[in-house]
Amino acid sequence: MLFLPALALICLLPLLALCAEDYYTLLGIDKSASERQIKKAYRTLSKKYHPDKNPANDTAHQKFVEIAEAYEVLIDADVRKIYDQHGHEGVKQHQQGGHRPGGGGHDPFDLFSRFFGGGGHFGGGGQGGQRRGPSMEVRIHVPLRNFYTGAAHDFKVEKQAICEKCEGSGSEDGQRDTCAKCNGQGMVIQKHMIAPGLFQQMQMQCDACAGKGSTVKHKCKVCGGSRHVRAEEAFELVVEKGMPDGARVTYEGEADESPDYVAGDLIVHLMQQEPARGGEEEGGRTDGTFFRRKGDHLFWREVLSLREAWMGDWTRNLTHLDGHIVQLSRKRGVVVQPGAVEVVDGEGMPVWRHEDGPEYGNLHVEYTVVLPDQLDQGVEKEFWGVWEKWRKKNKGGVQLDRDSGRPTPKEHGHEEL
Ligand SMILES: *[C@@H]1O[C@H](CO)[C@@H](O)[C@H](O)[C@H]1NC(C)=O
Ligand SMILES: *[C@@H]1O[C@H](CO)[C@@H](O)[C@H](O)[C@H]1NC(C)=O
Ligand SMILES: [Zn+2]
Ligand SMILES: [Zn+2]
Repeated sequence: MLFLPALALICLLPLLALCAEDYYTLLGIDKSASERQIKKAYRTLSKKYHPDKNPANDTAHQKFVEIAEAYEVLIDADVRKIYDQHGHEGVKQHQQGGHRPGGGGHDPFDLFSRFFGGGGHFGGGGQGGQRRGPSMEVRIHVPLRNFYTGAAHDFKVEKQAICEKCEGSGSEDGQRDTCAKCNGQGMVIQKHMIAPGLFQQMQMQCDACAGKGSTVKHKCKVCGGSRHVRAEEAFELVVEKGMPDGARVTYEGEADESPDYVAGDLIVHLMQQEPARGGEEEGGRTDGTFFRRKGDHLFWREVLSLREAWMGDWTRNLTHLDGHIVQLSRKRGVVVQPGAVEVVDGEGMPVWRHEDGPEYGNLHVEYTVVLPDQLDQGVEKEFWGVWEKWRKKNKGGVQLDRDSGRPTPKEHGHEEL
C-alpha cells in the first residue's frame, strides 16, 4: 500500500497547478454548465468571498481570486475547451503563448466591477456607496408532508436581470459615449419665462440620456439599451423539518438586479398548501395529507360506526405524512364516546431545530360516531326486541332528562312563548 501515500505526496509537492481545485467544482457547477450558469455562479460566489465582506481573511481573498480565474477560463469557449481537455496545465501553456482569457485584464477586481460596477468594491461606509435595490417578496406553497419530512423545493421567480449580452452596459459594442446635450452631467439648465422679459433658471434631468450622463450609439439588441431584461430564475428552497407555516427565508441579493444598484433581498414566505380534493398529488396521498396542523401538533378526525364506538373490537391504520402507520384500536367492550379526543404522544410535527435530537408534538384524534341511516327490517326487529326486553326489566329504562341533573321545569310562573 505504498500507492496512496505516494499520491498524497504528489499533491504536496510544488506541482500545485496539477492539484489546483477543479474550476467547475470551485464554481459549484456542472461540466455541462451554460454560459448563464457560469455567470450566475460567479455573481453569487464573488460577492460571498469578496475581501470587503471578509476583511483580513486570506482564505476568502484567495478564493475570490480563484473564482475570478475560474470564471475567465470557463466563460471563454476556446479556453474552456482547452481546460476540459488538458486541465490547468494546458490553460497555462495557452496563456504563456500570449493568449489571455476573456481579452480583459487579470485583475479580479476589474472583473468584479464589470459585473457590479463601483470600482470593484462594495459600496457603503465611504464614498461611492452604492444604492440598494428594493427587496422582493414571494409566497411559496408546499404540502404539509414537506414540513414533516423536510424537503428541497425548487421554484422559479421572474425578475429583472442584468442583460447578459451587454453585461449591463446597454451597448452592443460595450461603448458608452458622453452625452452631448449635458456633457455628462446628467442635468441641464433650462430657462423659463415667468413674466415678459423675466426668466428663471431651473436645473432639470437631461432628457437625452435620462440623467445618466452617457448615451449609447449602438444599442444592445437583446435589451434594447435598457441594460436589463425580464428573466426567470430558479431557486432551491430548503424546507427544514418542522418549519413553521409562514416562515421567512431570505436570499441575499437575489431581488431585481440593475447596474445602478446592489440588488436587494428576495424574501420567501413559506406557506402550507391546502390539500387538493380530488386530483392526484405529487408523492401520493395519505391520511396525513389531511391532517390539520397547529404549531407542533396535528389534528385528525376519525369516524367510528355505532357498533365500533359501543362494542369496541376495531383497528384503524392511519398512514402518516411520511408513510409510517399509526395504529388506533380498542379491544372488545371498550366504549368510545362521540367527540372523545385521544392524544397520541410523539405523532405530531417535528419540533423545528430542536437542540438535543428530534422531538415531536402530539397527534390529537377526535372520534365521530355515525349512526346508521337505515336498518335492515330483520335487524331492526331484533334490536327492537332486545331493547323492549331491557326496558321492561329496568322499569322504563334510564330517563336521561331526569338522571342528567337537568332542573325540572317549574309549574308556576311558566310562560308560554
Ligand atoms: C475566512 O473565510 C472562509 C471562507 O469564507 C471561512 O470559511 C472562514 O471561516 C473565514 N475565517 C474567518 C476567521 O473569518
Ligand atoms: C394494520 O396494520 C397491521 C400491521 O401493521 C396489519 O396487521 C393489520 O391487518 C392492519 N389492519 C388493517 C385494518 O388494515
Ligand atoms: Zn444627457
Ligand atoms: Zn443588453
